[in-house]
Amino acid sequence: MPKYNHPSPPEDRFYSDIVRRYEVEVNRFVPGYADKIVPLVTGEIIRKADNGDVLDIGSGIGNVDEIIIDLANPQSVDLVEISEPMIKESKRRLKDKKTTIRFHKMSAVDFEAEPNSFNAVLSNLVIHNIPYENKVGLISNIHKWLKNGGIFVWTDLVSFSDSAELERCFEERKRIAVLMGATEEFAEENFKKEREEDHMITVEQMSKMLKQAGFQDIEILWSKYNEVILRATK
Ligand SMILES: C[S@@+](CC[C@H](N)C(=O)[O-])C[C@H]1O[C@@H](n2cnc3c(N)ncnc32)[C@H](O)[C@@H]1O
Repeated sequence: MPKYNHPSPPEDRFYSDIVRRYEVEVNRFVPGYADKIVPLVTGEIIRKADNGDVLDIGSGIGNVDEIIIDLANPQSVDLVEISEPMIKESKRRLKDKKTTIRFHKMSAVDFEAEPNSFNAVLSNLVIHNIPYENKVGLISNIHKWLKNGGIFVWTDLVSFSDSAELERCFEERKRIAVLMGATEEFAEENFKKEREEDHMITVEQMSKMLKQAGFQDIEILWSKYNEVILRATK
């Protein structure tokens, strides 16, 4: 079970403990991760990545970037990740790739880049960890960092205006996680974090934030339970 007994930020502590079994756990706790989310997101990014520059916000163990690098021909990929164990694992995983890869071990909130740097930006199941005011700044930065015509694919856990609907999603996702082998205790811990520590917003708030940052053509590509994939264009 995750034990929060070393001095790092909450999100870092949580993910440090599960890094070794990340791929197993993400499939248990985010139904659709392997069969819907990863193929959809990589498909969108790959269409923009050929010879282009890609930024991954909250890149985890680098599994999504590995697919993008293997299936497209990006000029560069920048990975921003707050957790040391996660970034270490992504360095190990991507060490033999020929593409220019830059690793940034920091919060996405502190990351800086030149305007018009990237053809595609993705953020997969990360921004719900970031408080509202910082989210607004980050989304506005992502718009600034993208080249004209570039895309942002934002996958995230969302809330609903009706809190009972969110509870139904938690219950259903917990049932699936336990069916797939998660212990009750770990499942409880995961949803306690989602309930008490995360900063989920509704799809409507996400769309509004994207619009206010200057994005156009905001489209919901997929949604199930409280999981959603949005694509927006600069
Ligand atoms: C559920 S994982 C998703 C990882 C990866 N994007 C994927 O699709 O599998 C969330 C990741 O976001 C990272 N993270 C959380 N808060 C962050 C922040 N403020 N800045 C950068 N990374 C963050 C965590 O360390 C973790 O690796």
